[in-house]
Amino acid sequence: MSKALDGVRILDFTHVQSGPTCTQLLAWFGADVIKVERAGAGDITREQLRDIPDVDSLYFTMLNHNKRSVTIDTKNPEGKQVLEALIQKCDVLVENFAPGALDRMGFTWERIQELNPCMIVASVKGFGPGPYEDCKVYENVAQCAGGAASTTGFDDGPPVVTGAQIGDSGTGLHLALGIVTALYQRTHTGRGQRVLAAMQDGVLNLCRVKLRDQQRLDRTGVMKEYPQYPNGTFGEAVPRAGNASGGGQPGWILKCKGWETDPNAYIYFITQAPVWAKICNVIGKEEWATDPDYATAPARLPRLKEIFAEIERWTMTKTKFEAMQILNKHDIPCGPILSMKEIAAEPSLRKTGTIVEVDHPTRGKYLTVGNPIKLSDSPTEVLRSPLLGEHTDEVMAELGYSPEQISALRTAGAI
Ligand SMILES: CC(C)(COP(=O)(O)OP(=O)(O)OC[C@H]1O[C@@H](n2cnc3c(N)ncnc32)[C@H](O)[C@@H]1OP(=O)(O)O)[C@@H](O)C(=O)NCCC(=O)NCCS
Repeated sequence: MSKALDGVRILDFTHVQSGPTCTQLLAWFGADVIKVERAGAGDITREQLRDIPDVDSLYFTMLNHNKRSVTIDTKNPEGKQVLEALIQKCDVLVENFAPGALDRMGFTWERIQELNPCMIVASVKGFGPGPYEDCKVYENVAQCAGGAASTTGFDDGPPVVTGAQIGDSGTGLHLALGIVTALYQRTHTGRGQRVLAAMQDGVLNLCRVKLRDQQRLDRTGVMKEYPQYPNGTFGEAVPRAGNASGGGQPGWILKCKGWETDPNAYIYFITQAPVWAKICNVIGKEEWATDPDYATAPARLPRLKEIFAEIERWTMTKTKFEAMQILNKHDIPCGPILSMKEIAAEPSLRKTGTIVEVDHPTRGKYLTVGNPIKLSDSPTEVLRSPLLGEHTDEVMAELGYSPEQISALRTAGAI
């Protein structure tokens, strides 16, 4: 079956996490992704957090499926020529080097345009133009600068970063959308363009509701769905909301049976207004369904602590899965707190290809997260990540280099 991005060639000049997540998605959608790595060393993640000596790390293998790897020293004059040939042959160049690195290599936007006016040049940077544009940035820096950390955690504790890689993988997703959009525009204009996804911007985009809340706070001084209401105090900035969810549908994480020993024996429970009467029935507080202090969502807001404590008395008598079963029968929105161990073993995620077992020539079998986006006409087959330089000869031959030329370039250290 054909793939959505069949025929699209990507010069993948990415490393670490943010860029590779983007090009991995494009590869899963069918693009031919040629990853250019530094000769001899490769993407630094190949050797980071290794669990098996001398074998590509899971960090690398889980971010670089379905790609081909070529090694080129792009600071070597002959290596530069090979890169130029690749630029002429590819549709998109994706990079996430530190600001200015591509220019220092000699590949400015103007130079790339000269070589290939149709080329789309897509970059992840930590910050967009402004005071921090020259800074190097990693995941947690972006979470802090994008508003996630100041709004995550509990009121009485420090800012907290989330385990979800919203700065790296989140920005990779943003960049992938920018690339396919630019590819679509190119079908009308015939021209390439630059695509920039700044990590601060990507995180802020995902924190959109918190900027909403800042403006509500500025106007009214209070937000009734936050745990600070009614007994705590609000300052000038959006506070950390613990595990609270939105206004009409307050939620909280509640203990379930076994919480004393299992750190994940919890459930997220949402007191959705339309099912309030059912919630009252399930937890044995039928009188709350008609009591004016509890019957409406606005009346409940100042009493959420007490309400969740009562619901927790019920959830603590059930495991998170038993509670899920009972609550779902009544259409009460809730979710078990799943550990990574539980997720890895979940059969339904294996069935849909969201969790995939992959075989690797030096590592053996390992689990990875497959393509989370399912296209009915473009199925994803997850293929192992390439070994360093595994496809150098193959790609060089496609560029028109003869075996003798390839061998000479290798001797010169260009590839
Ligand atoms: C992630 C980051 C902090 C890593 O920094 P770093 O390890 O110092 O790596 P850099 O991007 O600065 O690149 C290092 C050098 O390798 C060089 N290099 C990369 N590939 C090369 C190749 N194939 N051949 C020769 N040189 C190469 C670059 O030209 C650069 O050289 P320069 O500093 O002399 O210009 C930085 O790349 C960055 O801020 N990227 C943008 C934001 C981002 O994506 N962050 C998320 C990472 S998950």
